Amino acid sequence: MAVLPFTSETLHMAATKLFRILLSLPGMRWIIGTIFRSPTICADVFTLDFENPLGLAAGMDKKGMNIRNWECLGFGWIEIGGVTLHSQGGNPKPRMFRSRKHKALVNRMGFNNPGAEAMAAYLSKLKRKGHWPSIPVGINIGKSKMTANADAELDYAETLQHLWDFADVFIVNVSSPNTPNLCELQAGSELDRILTACNEVNHNLSKQVSSPPKPLLVKVSPDLADDQIKILVDTAMMHGCSGIVATNTTISRPSTDKFMEIEGGLSGEPLRDRSTEVVHLIYRHAEGNIPIVGVGGISDAESAWEKIAAGASLLQVYSALVFEGPSVVKRINKGISQKLAANGYQELSEAVGHAHRR
Ligand code: FNR
Repeated sequence: MAVLPFTSETLHMAATKLFRILLSLPGMRWIIGTIFRSPTICADVFTLDFENPLGLAAGMDKKGMNIRNWECLGFGWIEIGGVTLHSQGGNPKPRMFRSRKHKALVNRMGFNNPGAEAMAAYLSKLKRKGHWPSIPVGINIGKSKMTANADAELDYAETLQHLWDFADVFIVNVSSPNTPNLCELQAGSELDRILTACNEVNHNLSKQVSSPPKPLLVKVSPDLADDQIKILVDTAMMHGCSGIVATNTTISRPSTDKFMEIEGGLSGEPLRDRSTEVVHLIYRHAEGNIPIVGVGGISDAESAWEKIAAGASLLQVYSALVFEGPSVVKRINKGISQKLAANGYQELSEAVGHAHRR
């Protein structure tokens, strides 16, 4: 069985370091950018302009090490993080596992990150040097392990405060299965406190610089019951959130073998159907009135189109980048572009949720 628990995180770190070094060589950004250029598929979502809908999912570039480089692989936007208020080492290693057989990853990283203040200092340096991407940047914010759930809103709000200048959109992550009890924060009353606190910071900071508040999205777990998802969506909409990211990794297992027994959040192919189901559910429940970012098991044009049909306005990938390599981004965008033309759609927005209009 192709389970390599001892090398997965090391491989990941080596690949991302190599990517950074390669792209720092003269002319390389242009060369790689030309090879992997995606077709333009304009999307205007939560008042941001995207050259294509496909983004990098949270967790791949936790520290923003390659923040400027992902666009060279054809991504239309990126999400960095998860970032928490306090710096954390995460769970003991090994904590990232891959199975080629299942085209799946299991991780229990546990929000290893430098903390919001250090992250802000790093991002500020990059911005000053002009090392900033030209595509929209999202920052995924989580809760520090040391902060009790009862104080969660302070943790999220302070993280947002530190990082406010550096993102075009913030993703409130209450759905990672790897921080004890984090998923409980998805319940209406808990989420209510968190979004109230985040909105206050968001509005205060936006007033100070006379610009609009940043879009806030909520990331949902595929493990919630459908009724719980509906409550989460209602709560997010009540607080004026700009979108829902569906979905995070799952603790459920669709089959049993040694790989599937590993503890943590499962992503990739086995997550595909449930995550699409959740996109359908949210779109139907909100009657298309809140943008959805579809993520979970997207690996080709077919699985991307399935999420768009279900109601996703934007998409993200993580696992496919690991199993299919960097050319998957251009391939997916090319496929979406062909499907739009084949179905007679002029704009991506016309295709969003089309399964509900049959
Ligand atoms: C993740 N994911 C994740 N999500 C999040 O909201 N914050 C995070 O910090 C992380 N970290 C993380 C680490 C690792 C190693 C993996 C594999 C995943 C979840 C990720 O963003 C995405 O929702 C899932 O991986 C599903 O997408 P794919 O992998 O099926 O395309």
